[in-house]
Amino acid sequence: MVRGLRRVKIAGLSTYVPPRLLTNADLERMVDTSDEWILQRTGIRERHIVDEGMATSDMAKEASLGALRQAGLAPDDIGFIVVGTTTPDMIFPSTACLLQDKLGARHAWGFDLGAACSGFTYALTTGAQMVANGAHDYALVIGADTMSSIIDYQDRTTCVLFGDGAGAVVLAPADDEEPALIDFAHEVDGSGGMALCMPAGGSRLPATHDTVEKRLHYVKQDGQTVFRFAVRKTEEISRRLLQRNGLQPSEIDLFVSHQANRRIITAAAERLGLPESKVVINLDRFGNTTGATIPLALADAAADGRLRRGDLVLLASVGAGFTVGSILLKWSL
Ligand code: ACO
Repeated sequence: MVRGLRRVKIAGLSTYVPPRLLTNADLERMVDTSDEWILQRTGIRERHIVDEGMATSDMAKEASLGALRQAGLAPDDIGFIVVGTTTPDMIFPSTACLLQDKLGARHAWGFDLGAACSGFTYALTTGAQMVANGAHDYALVIGADTMSSIIDYQDRTTCVLFGDGAGAVVLAPADDEEPALIDFAHEVDGSGGMALCMPAGGSRLPATHDTVEKRLHYVKQDGQTVFRFAVRKTEEISRRLLQRNGLQPSEIDLFVSHQANRRIITAAAERLGLPESKVVINLDRFGNTTGATIPLALADAAADGRLRRGDLVLLASVGAGFTVGSILLKWSL
């Protein structure tokens, strides 16, 4: 990153989604909704959902092992682990600690990072600083969420939107001529906090019979407020980052936005003047997996040949908080 001492590259990327599918047809049997409504309003067709017993650290482990393999590294090589998640296995210990143990990453320290749907961009920036400043040679950056654990499958306004999944990248120092991360921009607007939240289970409203009966341990959302903020901020943060680096949107090879709703992505991309061919949309198969959407989208784009080494890539995210993030990079795999 420009502000670091060393250039940093993505040396490995891998993802994991659980095999079980929750389709729009399944949801039609659970709540008063329709495949047509979901597709029109969101673009989502199906999501992957964990079986009972699987948690965020389990998915994060699968994704991490793949990313390590691609980077040609062993768990012992990792010095730092950051997990962007809104659905940790438990409030404590952190999912990063549980993952460190599962991987046998004996030389790593780390922590969880709470930025909701911006979990991956925030974690990528955080991990990159650890490598850029020379504190560690290799960092493991994860976005992983078991959204099905906090979704109310009686609430049609939210249950159609989310899925489970994990993505991991390994960061490493880059040589002078290698493609690398370029810059980042982040913002928080805490005034929007109540537009998307899980009211109970924290210190404000600990779990009681009452909180359970009132279904307060689930995601609550003012969808239209979130929608409007997401479109506006995705454009704003993207433009700010591009301008700072002397770039026009047209110079971007690939735009990889957080995958919440097809309409949010296409509206932001249109405002940026980006053609469809430069915009990755894969939420039809995964829904909104919160921290995992951007690595899932990068992995798909790399697999189908749309993302190639040296490409100029712009990542963007807006999430609960509100949290906002954008990262500019040259693809290095
Ligand atoms: N099936 C059928 N009808 C539904 C459903 C459903 N699943 N959900 C809501 N409706 C109904 C509503 O009850 C409402 O009915 P009414 O007019 O009789 O009251 C009607 O559909 C329209 O509801 P709206 O909320 O106005 O629909 P909208 O077009 O705003 O779409 C949506 C809702 C999809 C939630 C949209 O607001 C959205 O995507 N918001 C962003 C939310 C988001 O992506 N959050 C994820 C995390 S944050 C982030 O990642 C950016």
